Amino acid sequence: MPQEIIINDVGPRDGLQNQSKILSIEQRLQLIRALVEANVDHIEVGSFVSPKAVPAMVGTDAVLQSLVGESENFSVLIPNQRGYELATKVGAKTVAMVLYASDGMAVKNVGMAKLQVEQAAEAILQQAEADRVKVIVTISVAFECPFDGPTDPTIVFETANKFLDLGVENLVIADTIGAANPAQVSELMTRLVSRNGAARLTGHFHDTRALGMANVYAAVEAGIRRFDASISGLGGCPFAPGASGNVATEDIVMLLHSMGFDTGINLHQLMVASDLAESLTGAAPGGRSKAWLKPYLLENSVA
Ligand code: COA
Ligand code: ZN
Repeated sequence: MPQEIIINDVGPRDGLQNQSKILSIEQRLQLIRALVEANVDHIEVGSFVSPKAVPAMVGTDAVLQSLVGESENFSVLIPNQRGYELATKVGAKTVAMVLYASDGMAVKNVGMAKLQVEQAAEAILQQAEADRVKVIVTISVAFECPFDGPTDPTIVFETANKFLDLGVENLVIADTIGAANPAQVSELMTRLVSRNGAARLTGHFHDTRALGMANVYAAVEAGIRRFDASISGLGGCPFAPGASGNVATEDIVMLLHSMGFDTGINLHQLMVASDLAESLTGAAPGGRSKAWLKPYLLENSVA
């Protein structure tokens, strides 16, 4: 039996928040449904954030309302208590919170110090437990911050352990600006897996310096079995200078399938979703595999 790896597509949030073109609610839903058609069943479908901070995510309530009941694995990003209330009011079953390994990034992103964000997250976690809402926690700039420089891995290790001990559903280690190298990824992920097991750990990589796939591979070797990725490599963080797109879903799925892992994802349909992401946003396609994959799949009709 091939080992399973879960892919959580964050394109409809991490991807779309950074496009010059703002999509309508219908278009956002179209993209989400195209991913579902490709059997991508973990999707970050939007965020409940200040409309001034991220105009592209206005209307996430309507997006979520259209999807309620379809999957427990659709998540929405929330930056604060207000976001939690808005999300759960329209039936969110999984919320995703972002912590920061540096103060510089925390202040730029949400106007709070690193520790303040952690305190807010702890309070939300307690509330969510009572409400039976699952919480995903991401530690962003886990390797390097565009404002404060290289991150001390011990800070990330300890913060991750703390939140895993507090019972988060999943803990995401995010290389927000794509600055990590595979040796660093291997070391941190190995430490985390040996203390906590891999079941609740996720890797989130950006391809800024063409090291995205190498970092995914290093994480797989360290035992990580869940990754964030973004269809057509859409994305980047509007508050982190130099952050380009996430690793493309099609690249990571191709890598994992060729290594014998099972993601459950249908590559033919994923190409359809990728083309749609391209045409809806007008963004240049990210990732490297599609140019080869599309003709190959057509010729060989394999999934
Ligand atoms: N959803 C919607 N609106 C919210 C909100 C939320 N979760 N939290 C706050 N707001 C509103 C407030 O009501 C206020 O509205 P008003 O100006 O009409 O009164 C406005 O946003 C500003 O709120 P304030 O509490 O003063 O916070 P701020 O201006 O310091 O912004 C955040 C703080 C966290 C709301 C904002 O920085 C944010 O949304 N950041 C998200 C960044 C992000 O998504 N990054 C991507 C992760 S990689
Ligand atoms: Zn990201």
